[in-house]
Amino acid sequence: MAIFKKKAVDLQREIFLGGLRGDRPVIPLRFSDLRLEVKDRLSGQAFDYLDGGAGAEATNESNRAAFQRWQIVPQMLKGISRTDLSIQLFGHDLECPLFLCPIGVLELAHPEGDLAVSSACAQTNTPLMISSQASNPMEAIAGIMPNALKFFQLYWSKSEELVASFVSRAGDCGCRAIVVTLDTTLLGWRTRDLEHAYLPFLYAMGLSNYISDPVFNRLMIEHPPQPGPQPRPNLQLLRSLWKMASQYPGSTWQNFKSRSPLRAIQKFIEIYMNPGLQWEDLRLLRELTDLPVVLKGIQHPDDARRAVDMGMDGIMVSNHGGRQIDGAIGSLDALRLCREVVPDQMPLLFDSGIRSGADAFKALALGATAVGIGRPYAYALGLAGSNGVTTLIDQYRAELELTMALSGCASIDEINREMLYTAN
Ligand code: GLV
Repeated sequence: MAIFKKKAVDLQREIFLGGLRGDRPVIPLRFSDLRLEVKDRLSGQAFDYLDGGAGAEATNESNRAAFQRWQIVPQMLKGISRTDLSIQLFGHDLECPLFLCPIGVLELAHPEGDLAVSSACAQTNTPLMISSQASNPMEAIAGIMPNALKFFQLYWSKSEELVASFVSRAGDCGCRAIVVTLDTTLLGWRTRDLEHAYLPFLYAMGLSNYISDPVFNRLMIEHPPQPGPQPRPNLQLLRSLWKMASQYPGSTWQNFKSRSPLRAIQKFIEIYMNPGLQWEDLRLLRELTDLPVVLKGIQHPDDARRAVDMGMDGIMVSNHGGRQIDGAIGSLDALRLCREVVPDQMPLLFDSGIRSGADAFKALALGATAVGIGRPYAYALGLAGSNGVTTLIDQYRAELELTMALSGCASIDEINREMLYTAN
Protein backbone atom coordinates (compact mmCIF):
# COMPACT_ATOMS: atom_id res chain seq x y z
CA MET A 1 0.00 0.00 0.00
CA ALA A 2 1.20 3.47 -0.85
CA ILE A 3 1.81 5.57 2.25
CA PHE A 4 1.67 9.32 1.94
CA LYS A 5 4.83 10.50 3.67
CA LYS A 6 3.37 13.64 5.18
CA LYS A 7 2.88 15.06 1.71
CA ALA A 8 0.64 17.71 3.19
CA VAL A 9 3.44 18.94 5.42
CA ASP A 10 5.82 19.01 2.45
CA LEU A 11 3.33 21.04 0.47
CA GLN A 12 2.80 23.49 3.33
CA ARG A 13 6.56 23.87 3.70
CA GLU A 14 7.01 24.42 -0.05
CA ILE A 15 4.32 27.11 -0.07
CA PHE A 16 5.62 28.94 3.01
CA LEU A 17 9.24 28.80 1.87
CA GLY A 18 8.15 30.00 -1.58
CA GLY A 19 6.66 33.01 0.19
CA LEU A 20 10.19 34.04 1.19
CA ARG A 21 10.93 34.46 -2.53
CA GLY A 22 7.65 36.29 -3.09
CA ASP A 23 5.91 33.27 -4.70
CA ARG A 24 2.23 32.60 -4.17
CA PRO A 25 0.16 29.50 -5.06
CA VAL A 26 -0.94 29.64 -8.73
CA ILE A 27 -4.62 29.42 -7.79
CA PRO A 28 -6.56 30.74 -4.78
CA LEU A 29 -7.05 28.07 -2.14
CA ARG A 30 -10.61 28.87 -1.12
CA PHE A 31 -13.33 27.87 -3.56
CA SER A 32 -15.16 31.19 -3.28
CA ASP A 33 -12.02 33.07 -4.39
CA LEU A 34 -11.26 30.56 -7.14
CA ARG A 35 -14.77 30.98 -8.49
CA LEU A 36 -14.63 34.77 -8.46
CA GLU A 37 -11.24 34.86 -10.19
CA VAL A 38 -12.31 32.54 -12.96
CA LYS A 39 -15.54 34.49 -13.37
CA ASP A 40 -13.44 37.53 -14.24
CA ARG A 41 -11.37 35.51 -16.68
CA LEU A 42 -14.05 33.71 -18.73
CA SER A 43 -16.83 35.05 -20.95
CA GLY A 44 -20.22 35.31 -19.25
CA GLN A 45 -21.56 32.49 -21.42
CA ALA A 46 -18.67 30.15 -20.65
CA PHE A 47 -18.65 30.87 -16.92
CA ASP A 48 -22.41 30.50 -16.60
CA TYR A 49 -22.43 27.24 -18.53
CA LEU A 50 -19.90 25.78 -16.09
CA ASP A 51 -21.16 27.43 -12.94
CA GLY A 52 -24.90 27.35 -13.48
CA GLY A 53 -27.52 25.01 -12.06
CA ALA A 54 -31.14 24.25 -12.80
CA GLY A 55 -33.90 26.79 -12.16
CA ALA A 56 -33.30 29.00 -9.13
CA GLU A 57 -30.27 26.82 -8.25
CA ALA A 58 -31.73 25.63 -4.93
CA THR A 59 -30.16 22.20 -5.46
CA ASN A 60 -26.72 23.78 -5.62
CA GLU A 61 -27.51 25.40 -2.27
CA SER A 62 -28.80 22.12 -0.83
CA ASN A 63 -25.60 20.41 -1.93
CA ARG A 64 -23.59 22.91 0.08
CA ALA A 65 -26.03 23.12 2.99
CA ALA A 66 -25.74 19.37 3.49
CA PHE A 67 -21.98 19.73 3.93
CA GLN A 68 -22.49 22.52 6.42
CA ARG A 69 -25.00 20.52 8.41
CA TRP A 70 -22.52 17.71 9.05
CA GLN A 71 -19.58 18.68 11.24
CA ILE A 72 -16.39 16.83 12.02
CA VAL A 73 -15.80 15.78 15.63
CA PRO A 74 -12.04 15.19 15.94
CA GLN A 75 -10.46 12.76 18.40
CA MET A 76 -7.13 13.51 20.09
CA LEU A 77 -3.94 11.72 21.10
CA LYS A 78 -4.27 8.86 18.67
CA GLY A 79 -0.62 9.02 17.69
CA ILE A 80 -1.22 9.63 14.00
CA SER A 81 2.31 10.18 12.73
CA ARG A 82 1.52 8.69 9.31
CA THR A 83 -1.65 8.67 7.26
CA ASP A 84 -2.53 6.18 4.57
CA LEU A 85 -5.03 7.52 2.03
CA SER A 86 -4.99 4.45 -0.18
CA ILE A 87 -8.11 2.56 -1.23
CA GLN A 88 -9.07 -0.20 -3.62
CA LEU A 89 -11.61 0.53 -6.33
CA PHE A 90 -12.80 -2.14 -8.78
CA GLY A 91 -9.67 -4.12 -8.01
CA HIS A 92 -7.28 -1.20 -8.58
CA ASP A 93 -5.01 0.23 -5.89
CA LEU A 94 -5.36 3.99 -5.56
CA GLU A 95 -3.11 6.27 -3.54
CA CYS A 96 -6.01 8.50 -2.63
CA PRO A 97 -9.82 8.30 -2.83
CA LEU A 98 -10.17 11.48 -4.93
CA PHE A 99 -10.96 11.44 -8.64
CA LEU A 100 -11.96 14.00 -11.26
CA CYS A 101 -15.58 13.97 -12.42
CA PRO A 102 -16.61 14.06 -16.05
CA ILE A 103 -17.19 17.65 -17.19
CA GLY A 104 -18.21 18.35 -20.77
CA VAL A 105 -16.93 21.16 -22.99
CA LEU A 106 -13.83 21.95 -20.94
CA GLU A 107 -12.56 24.06 -23.83
CA LEU A 108 -14.89 26.71 -22.38
CA ALA A 109 -12.48 26.96 -19.45
CA HIS A 110 -9.19 26.60 -21.32
CA PRO A 111 -8.18 26.00 -24.96
CA GLU A 112 -6.24 22.86 -24.00
CA GLY A 113 -9.40 21.44 -22.40
CA ASP A 114 -9.35 17.78 -21.43
CA LEU A 115 -5.75 17.31 -22.56
CA ALA A 116 -4.55 19.72 -19.89
CA VAL A 117 -6.69 17.91 -17.33
CA SER A 118 -5.44 14.45 -18.25
CA SER A 119 -1.88 15.70 -18.08
CA ALA A 120 -2.55 16.85 -14.49
CA CYS A 121 -4.06 13.42 -13.75
CA ALA A 122 -0.96 11.72 -15.16
CA GLN A 123 1.28 13.91 -13.04
CA THR A 124 -0.63 13.28 -9.81
CA ASN A 125 -1.76 9.72 -10.61
CA THR A 126 -5.38 10.80 -10.17
CA PRO A 127 -8.26 8.86 -11.75
CA LEU A 128 -10.32 10.69 -14.39
CA MET A 129 -13.81 9.99 -15.65
CA ILE A 130 -13.63 10.95 -19.30
CA SER A 131 -16.78 12.75 -20.42
CA SER A 132 -18.86 11.69 -23.43
CA GLN A 133 -19.05 15.43 -24.13
CA ALA A 134 -15.29 15.97 -23.88
CA SER A 135 -13.57 18.58 -25.99
CA ASN A 136 -11.06 16.02 -27.22
CA PRO A 137 -11.53 12.42 -28.37
CA MET A 138 -11.27 9.90 -25.54
CA GLU A 139 -8.25 8.22 -27.19
CA ALA A 140 -6.26 11.48 -27.10
CA ILE A 141 -7.22 12.10 -23.46
CA ALA A 142 -6.39 8.55 -22.39
CA GLY A 143 -3.12 8.58 -24.34
CA ILE A 144 -1.75 11.33 -22.10
CA MET A 145 -2.36 9.36 -18.91
CA PRO A 146 -1.46 5.77 -19.81
CA ASN A 147 -0.66 4.72 -16.24
CA ALA A 148 -3.38 6.53 -14.31
CA LEU A 149 -6.83 5.01 -13.83
CA LYS A 150 -9.49 6.10 -16.32
CA PHE A 151 -13.22 5.55 -16.52
CA PHE A 152 -15.57 6.48 -19.33
CA GLN A 153 -18.77 8.40 -18.62
CA LEU A 154 -21.43 7.34 -21.06
CA TYR A 155 -24.45 9.27 -22.24
CA TRP A 156 -26.85 6.66 -23.52
CA SER A 157 -27.63 7.72 -27.05
CA LYS A 158 -30.80 6.93 -29.00
CA SER A 159 -28.55 4.78 -31.20
CA GLU A 160 -27.52 1.54 -29.50
CA GLU A 161 -24.88 1.13 -32.18
CA LEU A 162 -23.32 4.38 -31.04
CA VAL A 163 -23.50 3.24 -27.41
CA ALA A 164 -21.69 0.05 -28.45
CA SER A 165 -19.06 2.01 -30.33
CA PHE A 166 -18.36 4.35 -27.39
CA VAL A 167 -18.11 1.41 -24.99
CA SER A 168 -15.74 -0.46 -27.27
CA ARG A 169 -13.55 2.61 -27.86
CA ALA A 170 -13.46 3.25 -24.11
CA GLY A 171 -12.24 -0.30 -23.46
CA ASP A 172 -9.68 -0.07 -26.26
CA CYS A 173 -8.18 3.15 -24.91
CA GLY A 174 -7.73 1.74 -21.42
CA CYS A 175 -10.81 2.85 -19.49
CA ARG A 176 -11.45 0.53 -16.55
CA ALA A 177 -15.17 1.12 -15.95
CA ILE A 178 -18.20 2.43 -17.80
CA VAL A 179 -20.10 5.05 -15.81
CA VAL A 180 -23.59 5.53 -17.26
CA THR A 181 -25.16 8.88 -16.50
CA LEU A 182 -28.85 8.36 -15.75
CA ASP A 183 -29.85 11.86 -14.65
CA THR A 184 -29.42 13.62 -17.98
CA THR A 185 -31.81 11.95 -20.37
CA LEU A 186 -32.94 15.53 -21.06
CA LEU A 187 -31.19 18.81 -20.39
CA GLY A 188 -32.36 20.42 -17.13
CA TRP A 189 -34.02 23.86 -17.07
CA ARG A 190 -30.74 25.76 -16.95
CA THR A 191 -31.83 29.32 -16.48
CA ARG A 192 -28.47 31.00 -17.00
CA ASP A 193 -27.90 29.24 -20.33
CA LEU A 194 -31.46 30.05 -21.37
CA GLU A 195 -30.93 33.71 -20.48
CA HIS A 196 -27.79 33.81 -22.63
CA ALA A 197 -29.61 31.74 -25.28
CA TYR A 198 -26.39 29.76 -25.35
CA LEU A 199 -25.68 26.06 -25.71
CA PRO A 200 -22.03 25.27 -26.54
CA PHE A 201 -22.90 22.11 -28.50
CA LEU A 202 -24.56 24.30 -31.12
CA TYR A 203 -21.11 25.75 -31.84
CA ALA A 204 -19.68 22.25 -32.32
CA MET A 205 -18.04 22.35 -28.88
CA GLY A 206 -17.92 19.18 -26.79
CA LEU A 207 -18.64 16.97 -29.79
CA SER A 208 -15.18 15.41 -30.23
CA ASN A 209 -16.15 11.89 -29.23
CA TYR A 210 -19.01 11.98 -31.71
CA ILE A 211 -17.33 13.43 -34.77
CA SER A 212 -14.38 11.06 -34.27
CA ASP A 213 -16.70 8.06 -34.12
CA PRO A 214 -17.10 5.77 -37.16
CA VAL A 215 -20.67 4.85 -36.22
CA PHE A 216 -21.70 8.48 -35.72
CA ASN A 217 -20.19 9.43 -39.06
CA ARG A 218 -21.91 6.53 -40.81
CA LEU A 219 -25.26 7.41 -39.18
CA MET A 220 -24.87 10.95 -40.50
CA ILE A 221 -24.71 9.58 -44.05
CA GLU A 222 -27.20 6.73 -43.75
CA HIS A 223 -29.73 8.62 -41.65
CA PRO A 224 -29.06 12.30 -42.26
CA PRO A 225 -30.51 14.59 -39.60
CA GLN A 226 -34.01 15.89 -40.16
CA PRO A 227 -33.63 19.42 -41.52
CA GLY A 228 -34.29 21.79 -38.64
CA PRO A 229 -36.01 25.17 -38.76
CA GLN A 230 -34.32 27.49 -41.25
CA PRO A 231 -34.04 30.91 -39.59
CA ARG A 232 -33.66 33.90 -41.91
CA PRO A 233 -29.91 34.60 -42.12
CA ASN A 234 -28.62 37.73 -40.44
CA LEU A 235 -25.13 38.83 -39.48
CA GLN A 236 -25.27 37.13 -36.08
CA LEU A 237 -26.34 33.83 -37.63
CA LEU A 238 -23.48 33.98 -40.14
CA ARG A 239 -21.08 34.68 -37.27
CA SER A 240 -22.44 31.67 -35.38
CA LEU A 241 -22.07 29.46 -38.47
CA TRP A 242 -18.49 30.66 -38.86
CA LYS A 243 -17.72 29.90 -35.21
CA MET A 244 -19.21 26.44 -35.64
CA ALA A 245 -17.08 25.89 -38.75
CA SER A 246 -13.96 27.00 -36.91
CA GLN A 247 -14.55 24.46 -34.10
CA TYR A 248 -14.93 21.59 -36.52
CA PRO A 249 -11.87 19.67 -37.79
CA GLY A 250 -10.57 20.76 -41.21
CA SER A 251 -10.56 24.09 -43.02
CA THR A 252 -12.95 26.64 -41.53
CA TRP A 253 -13.85 27.97 -44.98
CA GLN A 254 -14.57 24.48 -46.39
CA ASN A 255 -16.61 23.67 -43.30
CA PHE A 256 -18.50 26.93 -43.63
CA LYS A 257 -19.26 26.27 -47.30
CA SER A 258 -20.12 22.58 -46.93
CA ARG A 259 -22.29 23.05 -43.80
CA SER A 260 -21.02 19.66 -42.52
CA PRO A 261 -20.59 20.94 -38.94
CA LEU A 262 -24.21 21.98 -39.01
CA ARG A 263 -25.26 18.47 -40.02
CA ALA A 264 -23.07 16.92 -37.31
CA ILE A 265 -24.56 19.23 -34.69
CA GLN A 266 -28.10 18.45 -35.84
CA LYS A 267 -27.38 14.72 -35.75
CA PHE A 268 -25.80 15.03 -32.31
CA ILE A 269 -28.81 16.92 -30.94
CA GLU A 270 -31.11 14.31 -32.48
CA ILE A 271 -29.47 11.30 -30.84
CA TYR A 272 -27.18 12.16 -27.92
CA MET A 273 -29.79 11.72 -25.19
CA ASN A 274 -32.43 9.08 -24.73
CA PRO A 275 -35.35 10.08 -22.49
CA GLY A 276 -36.93 6.65 -23.05
CA LEU A 277 -34.10 4.85 -21.25
CA GLN A 278 -35.25 2.20 -18.74
CA TRP A 279 -33.64 -0.20 -16.28
CA GLU A 280 -33.99 -3.17 -18.62
CA ASP A 281 -32.00 -1.34 -21.33
CA LEU A 282 -28.93 -1.40 -19.12
CA ARG A 283 -28.64 -5.16 -19.60
CA LEU A 284 -27.21 -4.42 -23.03
CA LEU A 285 -24.06 -3.13 -21.37
CA ARG A 286 -23.35 -6.56 -19.97
CA GLU A 287 -23.37 -7.94 -23.50
CA LEU A 288 -21.11 -5.16 -24.72
CA THR A 289 -18.40 -5.21 -22.08
CA ASP A 290 -16.76 -7.07 -19.22
CA LEU A 291 -15.78 -3.78 -17.61
CA PRO A 292 -17.41 -2.82 -14.30
CA VAL A 293 -20.61 -0.82 -14.82
CA VAL A 294 -21.38 2.11 -12.53
CA LEU A 295 -24.71 3.97 -12.46
CA LYS A 296 -24.24 7.71 -12.05
CA GLY A 297 -26.97 10.06 -10.91
CA ILE A 298 -28.56 7.85 -8.25
CA GLN A 299 -30.21 9.79 -5.39
CA HIS A 300 -33.15 7.61 -4.30
CA PRO A 301 -32.43 4.60 -2.04
CA ASP A 302 -34.90 2.50 -4.06
CA ASP A 303 -32.79 3.11 -7.16
CA ALA A 304 -29.66 2.22 -5.21
CA ARG A 305 -31.29 -1.06 -4.15
CA ARG A 306 -32.36 -1.75 -7.70
CA ALA A 307 -28.84 -1.17 -8.99
CA VAL A 308 -27.61 -3.78 -6.49
CA ASP A 309 -30.36 -6.21 -7.49
CA MET A 310 -29.41 -5.83 -11.14
CA GLY A 311 -25.83 -6.76 -10.34
CA MET A 312 -24.31 -3.36 -11.11
CA ASP A 313 -20.71 -2.98 -9.97
CA GLY A 314 -21.01 0.45 -8.43
CA ILE A 315 -23.23 3.48 -7.86
CA MET A 316 -22.30 7.10 -8.22
CA VAL A 317 -24.45 9.24 -5.96
CA SER A 318 -24.66 12.55 -7.82
CA ASN A 319 -27.20 15.18 -8.78
CA HIS A 320 -25.04 16.42 -11.63
CA GLY A 321 -23.84 19.34 -9.56
CA GLY A 322 -27.40 20.67 -9.26
CA ARG A 323 -27.65 21.11 -13.03
CA GLN A 324 -30.70 18.96 -13.66
CA ILE A 325 -33.52 19.47 -11.13
CA ASP A 326 -34.14 22.55 -9.03
CA GLY A 327 -35.15 22.03 -5.40
CA ALA A 328 -33.68 18.54 -5.09
CA ILE A 329 -32.10 16.79 -2.12
CA GLY A 330 -28.48 17.68 -1.31
CA SER A 331 -26.32 14.91 -2.75
CA LEU A 332 -24.52 14.31 0.57
CA ASP A 333 -27.88 13.56 2.21
CA ALA A 334 -28.71 11.18 -0.64
CA LEU A 335 -25.36 9.47 -0.09
CA ARG A 336 -26.23 8.70 3.52
CA LEU A 337 -29.64 7.32 2.54
CA CYS A 338 -28.19 5.17 -0.24
CA ARG A 339 -25.35 3.84 1.93
CA GLU A 340 -27.92 2.58 4.42
CA VAL A 341 -29.54 0.28 1.85
CA VAL A 342 -26.62 -1.12 -0.12
CA PRO A 343 -24.15 -3.78 1.03
CA ASP A 344 -20.93 -2.50 2.60
CA GLN A 345 -18.83 -3.91 -0.21
CA MET A 346 -20.79 -2.05 -2.92
CA PRO A 347 -18.60 0.86 -4.13
CA LEU A 348 -20.41 4.18 -3.74
CA LEU A 349 -18.78 6.99 -5.66
CA PHE A 350 -19.91 10.48 -4.79
CA ASP A 351 -20.04 13.96 -6.30
CA SER A 352 -21.97 17.25 -6.16
CA GLY A 353 -20.80 19.86 -3.70
CA ILE A 354 -17.18 18.94 -2.92
CA ARG A 355 -15.26 22.19 -2.44
CA SER A 356 -12.29 21.07 -0.31
CA GLY A 357 -10.38 18.13 1.12
CA ALA A 358 -12.35 18.52 4.34
CA ASP A 359 -15.58 18.06 2.36
CA ALA A 360 -14.16 14.85 0.95
CA PHE A 361 -13.60 13.65 4.53
CA LYS A 362 -17.30 14.20 5.28
CA ALA A 363 -18.38 12.29 2.17
CA LEU A 364 -16.08 9.40 3.12
CA ALA A 365 -17.54 9.46 6.64
CA LEU A 366 -21.06 9.17 5.23
CA GLY A 367 -20.16 6.14 3.18
CA ALA A 368 -18.46 7.20 -0.05
CA THR A 369 -15.78 4.83 -1.32
CA ALA A 370 -14.26 7.48 -3.59
CA VAL A 371 -15.01 11.17 -3.98
CA GLY A 372 -15.28 13.21 -7.18
CA ILE A 373 -14.10 16.78 -7.67
CA GLY A 374 -16.13 18.72 -10.25
CA ARG A 375 -16.35 22.48 -10.80
CA PRO A 376 -13.27 23.33 -8.67
CA TYR A 377 -10.92 21.65 -11.14
CA ALA A 378 -12.67 23.27 -14.12
CA TYR A 379 -12.06 26.66 -12.49
CA ALA A 380 -8.44 25.80 -11.68
CA LEU A 381 -8.07 24.82 -15.35
CA GLY A 382 -9.57 28.14 -16.40
CA LEU A 383 -7.11 30.09 -14.26
CA ALA A 384 -3.87 28.21 -14.74
CA GLY A 385 -4.28 25.34 -17.24
CA SER A 386 -2.83 21.96 -16.39
CA ASN A 387 -0.67 23.43 -13.63
CA GLY A 388 -3.81 24.83 -12.01
CA VAL A 389 -5.45 21.40 -11.99
CA THR A 390 -2.32 19.71 -10.59
CA THR A 391 -2.14 22.35 -7.88
CA LEU A 392 -5.79 21.92 -6.97
CA ILE A 393 -5.47 18.13 -6.71
CA ASP A 394 -2.40 18.53 -4.47
CA GLN A 395 -4.26 21.01 -2.27
CA TYR A 396 -7.34 18.79 -1.89
CA ARG A 397 -5.21 15.75 -1.10
CA ALA A 398 -3.17 17.70 1.42
CA GLU A 399 -6.25 19.01 3.19
CA LEU A 400 -7.84 15.57 3.28
CA GLU A 401 -4.64 14.12 4.72
CA LEU A 402 -4.39 16.82 7.39
CA THR A 403 -8.07 16.52 8.26
CA MET A 404 -7.58 12.79 8.79
CA ALA A 405 -4.46 13.21 10.90
CA LEU A 406 -5.98 15.99 13.00
CA SER A 407 -9.23 14.05 13.51
CA GLY A 408 -7.48 10.88 14.59
CA CYS A 409 -7.80 8.73 11.47
CA ALA A 410 -4.71 6.91 10.20
CA SER A 411 -6.44 5.33 7.23
CA ILE A 412 -9.52 5.79 5.07
CA ASP A 413 -11.42 2.92 6.67
CA GLU A 414 -11.14 4.65 10.05
CA ILE A 415 -13.26 7.53 8.72
CA ASN A 416 -16.84 6.74 9.61
CA ARG A 417 -20.18 8.21 10.57
CA GLU A 418 -19.10 8.43 14.25
CA MET A 419 -16.65 11.15 13.21
CA LEU A 420 -19.52 13.49 12.31
CA TYR A 421 -22.08 15.44 14.30
CA THR A 422 -25.33 16.92 13.10
CA ALA A 423 -27.84 18.85 15.15
CA ASN A 424 -30.76 17.49 13.09
C1 GLV B 1 -23.49 17.99 -19.35
O1 GLV B 1 -23.22 16.95 -18.85
C2 GLV B 1 -23.78 19.17 -18.61
O2 GLV B 1 -24.05 19.07 -17.42
O3 GLV B 1 -23.74 20.23 -19.20
